Amino acid sequence: MSQFKDQWAAVALSADVGRKPKRIFLNGVPIVLFRGRDGVAALPDRCPHRLVALSEGRVVDGDIECPYHGWRFNGDGRCTAIPGHIGKLPVYRTQTYRTMEREGAIFVSAGSPAQPPYVHCMEGQDVVVRRVRSSTQSTVLDAAENILDATHTHFTHKNLLRGLSAKRHKVTVEITGGEGWIQADYIGENRQEGIVSKLLEGERTRTVGRFRAPGIAELEYWGPKGLALATTFHLRRADAETVEGIGWLMGPRKGGLGHLMALAFKPLFSVALNQDRRVLRSASLNSRFTPDARPVIGPLDFLRKDIEAILKGEPHSAMEVSRRASIEL
Ligand code: FES
Ligand SMILES: [Fe+2]
Repeated sequence: MSQFKDQWAAVALSADVGRKPKRIFLNGVPIVLFRGRDGVAALPDRCPHRLVALSEGRVVDGDIECPYHGWRFNGDGRCTAIPGHIGKLPVYRTQTYRTMEREGAIFVSAGSPAQPPYVHCMEGQDVVVRRVRSSTQSTVLDAAENILDATHTHFTHKNLLRGLSAKRHKVTVEITGGEGWIQADYIGENRQEGIVSKLLEGERTRTVGRFRAPGIAELEYWGPKGLALATTFHLRRADAETVEGIGWLMGPRKGGLGHLMALAFKPLFSVALNQDRRVLRSASLNSRFTPDARPVIGPLDFLRKDIEAILKGEPHSAMEVSRRASIEL
């Protein structure tokens, strides 16, 4: 994970941090987010005094106050009060994390990223956006693969994304990539027949699934008039068993219609998310039993190995040469 030290991680929605502090986990580290004097502050969520969670305390004048003995810390991690102490305050400091608020989400970094975070694939465009948060018992690799996996929808999301008919269509899959990203383009796919597709899309000409370092999974549905619907999901390892995601669901505004579609989309998306969480959790639980098992990479698992390489900061197969396949979807 060290190669991600200088990267941003989306850890919460802006709406999650109001007057009260909020605890999040990043790679097993508890972090408290609160609104300090200079915007959102992030400190280890362990009071340096006796390790009590600062997030259980309250925010007073932009400082966080520990619920145990009332020590306070400002957004720079400096201890600003030790109630009952007379005289000059000794200097105590706790670590701080960089934070940035963008597009309704809070990003945190343990390092010093050179650039602001990439947020989503329709940044700067006139779009209707819904934000979602998810928590899944899984790994970043399994969760990212799941989002980008076109072949599970027939089963995991039967009736929701697909129709009742098991009819499949022949499509061309084109895999391309570059440093730190890979994508699969599905071309020639007919419109999917499930409820979600019926509600939300016109004719579909192309579906794109993309993975970007450090843990971003994107889906784009392209119609004849351009990008019709997209999701960008930022995944992060919260702790050894949990992956958390901050996601954006977007579509072009198109008068008032886009708004209505986005309203319909979010609940349906939550249903799909729950269906995915169920299979991912099952896999996670089963992986703990004996004997140790390695997942089989099947002929349709186009991105698995490459996502794994990107997560390790290693070169991947599609960086220089693209490849093509035909499948029935
Ligand atoms: S444990 Fe936080 S003030 Fe004592
Ligand atoms: Fe899914």
